[in-house]
Amino acid sequence: MEINCANLRLDAPRRSVISHSHSTPSGGTTPIPGWYGSEPIEGQVEDPYSAFKHLRETQPVNLTPEGNWRLTRYADINRVLRSSDAGMRLNNGLLPGQDEQVPGGGLFMLLQDPPTHTRLRKLVSKAFTPRAIEAWRPRAEAITHKLLDRVAPTGKMDLVSDLARPVPATLICELLGVPPEDQEDFTQWTADATHGLLTIRGIGDDETAAKVEAAGASLIGYFNSLIESRRKNLGDDLLSVLISAEEEGDKLDPLELLSQSVGLLIAGFETTIGLIGNGLTTLIRHPDELAKLRAHPELAESAVEECLRYSGPIVASVRVTHKALTFDDYVIPADNEVIAVLASANRDPEVFEDPERFDITRYTKGKDTAAHLSFGGGAHFCLGAHLARLETQIAIRTLVERFDDLKLENETTEWGRSLFRVPGSVPITFADKPTRPKSA
Ligand code: HEM
Repeated sequence: MEINCANLRLDAPRRSVISHSHSTPSGGTTPIPGWYGSEPIEGQVEDPYSAFKHLRETQPVNLTPEGNWRLTRYADINRVLRSSDAGMRLNNGLLPGQDEQVPGGGLFMLLQDPPTHTRLRKLVSKAFTPRAIEAWRPRAEAITHKLLDRVAPTGKMDLVSDLARPVPATLICELLGVPPEDQEDFTQWTADATHGLLTIRGIGDDETAAKVEAAGASLIGYFNSLIESRRKNLGDDLLSVLISAEEEGDKLDPLELLSQSVGLLIAGFETTIGLIGNGLTTLIRHPDELAKLRAHPELAESAVEECLRYSGPIVASVRVTHKALTFDDYVIPADNEVIAVLASANRDPEVFEDPERFDITRYTKGKDTAAHLSFGGGAHFCLGAHLARLETQIAIRTLVERFDDLKLENETTEWGRSLFRVPGSVPITFADKPTRPKSA
């Protein structure tokens, strides 16, 4: 089971290439293929943003030496994400890179175009309404406090293993109704299965592939028994809502239900770890902004939006053109892959004032800042956005309210093995406040 959120790991900028296009006999122009300082590399780099800036300024409609197109301007990316002339599948209905339909494969909504996508999304969104997610706020707060209680006496913690990972992992288990005694195994299978995303770009080795397969099988087996027992005893958990979701007499069939359940789990796991981990790292690196948040905890909402814009975990999304699409003078033919570099759109100076500045008040009311594209846009806009925001707002706010003197132990980030921009470990030290909010 895979989700098709591709990411680009980019190298430091190289020297600028001066000539960017040549004319074709038909009168249109074709860009001269090149990486323009932004080559995909394995593993994450500390600052991919200056390479994106260079690409955006030199060849914003980029043809790579591999024959893919990359877009880096906000307006172009917003357009392609919202266009019905681009989607997830080729015109022959197959996913790019597949020669034939894999039986039962690719059923997750993110791999679908309308009408299948519309139908699956309608059914699954019943479990993800803002109201349904908001009801989990007290649990998210209690989980966060409990995690911080554990590390408070020691004065040090790893932001990833002590907070960014267990918050979404525990909450998703509770949302799905996974009993406490199974949560550790369930989370390990999720982590291992998520490494399947690495294989999209051919990064994973044989050992990873074997682990992914075993973890996928364990998750599927576990979900099957969970679904079976839940069918007999429906509750108000997410899985029960998915089982009973009905729209005009339509329901998810068993394989669709399984695919959406596993897909959701994978879509929400590393991404949320990345947002909490990168967000807190960025805040600690900007002491003035951290001080603002301490003084005004109600800024947590705006701060999380700024963390998404400034250091979001998903660098790029991929689309396939259904028809020829024109950007500037360049025509991207039908059935071509387009990589929408979300992280570049989020720092486009045409849209964001002083885009390289991390400013946690940017998204406060009345400022009329453009939406960032870290949750995508259009038909596939992240269905878990409410949940990810809730978890991250609580994690960041609670940590800042409870602990003073946050200090990173390492200057550079130790990146995790992920298709996304997700830290593997962020050790910090802190001073526990003498008076602090009581643990729930
Ligand atoms: C910070 C955390 C997250 C980020 C940055 C994020 C980002 C994204 C992005 C960019 C997309 C669109 C991909 C594309 O258009 O190609 C997406 C789709 C999706 N995400 Fe998230 N996501 C996050 C957390 C979650 C969570 C917690 C869940 C659920 C538990 C989730 C479920 C989904 C689903 C189901 C889709 C597919 C929607 C569709 O195809 O209609 N995500 N996410």
